[in-house]
Amino acid sequence: TDRYAVIGNPVAHSLSPDIHAAFAAQTSQAMQYDRLPAEPDAFAATARAFFEAGGRGLNVTVPFKLDAADFADRLSDRAHAAGAVNTLIAHEAGRIEGDNTDGAGLLRDLQQNRGLPLVGRRLLILGAGGAAQGVIGPLLAAEPASLIIANRTPDKAVAMAARFATQGPVRGIGFPGLARIEPVHLLVNATSAGLAGALPELPPNLLAADATAYDMVYGAASDAFQDWARRQGAAATCDGLGMLVEQAAESFHRWRGLRPDTAPVLRQLRAGAG
Ligand code: ATR
Repeated sequence: TDRYAVIGNPVAHSLSPDIHAAFAAQTSQAMQYDRLPAEPDAFAATARAFFEAGGRGLNVTVPFKLDAADFADRLSDRAHAAGAVNTLIAHEAGRIEGDNTDGAGLLRDLQQNRGLPLVGRRLLILGAGGAAQGVIGPLLAAEPASLIIANRTPDKAVAMAARFATQGPVRGIGFPGLARIEPVHLLVNATSAGLAGALPELPPNLLAADATAYDMVYGAASDAFQDWARRQGAAATCDGLGMLVEQAAESFHRWRGLRPDTAPVLRQLRAGAG
């Protein structure tokens, strides 16, 4: 039985073990998937011990996605572009590849699952931390008319936009600047505000008539953002559970060479949460 795990801190409430167990059952893969907690300063030691004991792959969650990029022997192109790793893959001779499936997961949930067009649309992402960094490259690859990164600390948004400037029409601003932008078709919340029960301070009239508001966090942490978006007239709002399942499917594909069917797994999780 090949062993996998999700490494993070905290990791006790991670849904990844349930998702991968469902994928494994669906595709008849003999694999075990555990939770692997690590102390904040012990990512590399914990990951190394896991792989030395024969582990085949890790998912990496908060706060270790940058540590995982340092840890990997080599990075996929998309992990290199994101500067962050959410998936580690053991290859021959103990070489560890770092990949990042977060952006692909978001794009798949938006485009395949929700049929949302991004080409020529105006996109706005809130936040300029690790969560935002992982998805900006893939969002720009979808050829939007514009992508604005807005952050509470404006300098971080400006710096992040500069990093991706060669990849598309992206710029960074602070929240006060939001009062002066054209209404957007897609608003993505990549801040961690909801995890603390908070909501970024946003001006009215941010959303175009047919706008979708997408939160990268899921469950109750997403309620305040989605309530705000509905009050602002969003045509659709959703949390990040679909992205979570899709990034997991992309990781699973990297490890096992098979694409699981995500729809029944997402339905099962929504039923469990409700
Ligand atoms: P993550 O990996 O989840 O992105 P992070 O790198 O710590 O975590 O980044 C958290 C993001 O949420 C940042 O963009 C942060 O804004 P600052 O850069 O100004 O700190 C944003 N954030 C957290 N709490 C927030 C709040 N209450 N209002 C607005 N933005 C918030």
